[in-house]
Amino acid sequence: MRRPPDRPRAVAEHLYRRDEDRRPEFWTEGLGEPLSVYGERIAFVEGRPLRRWEPYRSKLGAALARGWSGPIPSAGERWLYLGAATGTTASHVADLVGREGRVYAVERSLRPFARLLRLGERYPNLLPLLADARRPEAYLDRVPPVDGLYLDVAQPDQVDLALANARHFLRGSGALLLALKTSSMGREKEPRGHLAEALARLEGPWEVEETIPLDPFHKRHYLIGARPTRALLAAPSAPGVTRRAAPRAGRER
Ligand SMILES: C[S@@+](CC[C@H](N)C(=O)[O-])C[C@H]1O[C@@H](n2cnc3c(N)ncnc32)[C@H](O)[C@@H]1O
Repeated sequence: MRRPPDRPRAVAEHLYRRDEDRRPEFWTEGLGEPLSVYGERIAFVEGRPLRRWEPYRSKLGAALARGWSGPIPSAGERWLYLGAATGTTASHVADLVGREGRVYAVERSLRPFARLLRLGERYPNLLPLLADARRPEAYLDRVPPVDGLYLDVAQPDQVDLALANARHFLRGSGALLLALKTSSMGREKEPRGHLAEALARLEGPWEVEETIPLDPFHKRHYLIGARPTRALLAAPSAPGVTRRAAPRAGRER
């Protein structure tokens, strides 16, 4: 028999869950005004505005719907988001980090960036940056050390981009979330072969906390969650060591 849907209940700060017929749905407490960013459903629970996190529109949303228990952005943190497009997922990340946190959202294509800019006007904690993630030195002076790095660029060199940006920006114990699009890595291997190759690049210096396939929401995609190991932190190429001093407070938004 079909169970009536539960009310969304808080599972972390600014993150809510509701189980509809045993399928989990996730919602974030909306920070922007107006609330809806991409046509997602809105609900009010105890006076709090909630935005439904659509798993077909967001890889992190899909990972949660599939049972992700790896790192996620939390209240007060700073995240660098690479490949923000129009800000669908970045807006949920901004909801999660809340007013005290910050999302530095990098996108290199002008068309999605125009919409990302407008989103930045609605979100007090989201800073859109028009830049190429292959050139992290171009935004070194605008992005301070971050607690988390999220990368979703759908490019053949996505693992290299994640590692290079982590070296520049990620704090010692920070989290890396890598949305791996295996079809961007060539057709000569099965998705699991590309995943194994990506994990082999990370394992050792990085502790991979969780990997989850994102189908049926995003075919041939995985989300990987990892943190630097002590050995990596001690190495000369450790995360954060190649960046310059953080910008002065007045230059940050
Ligand atoms: C799959 S879409 C991102 C979707 C988005 N993360 C979301 O969930 O809302 C990939 C985006 O990465 C951007 N991109 C690709 N290569 C990039 C690079 N080198 N630097 C910055 N952005 C890049 C593309 O322009 C595109 O908008």
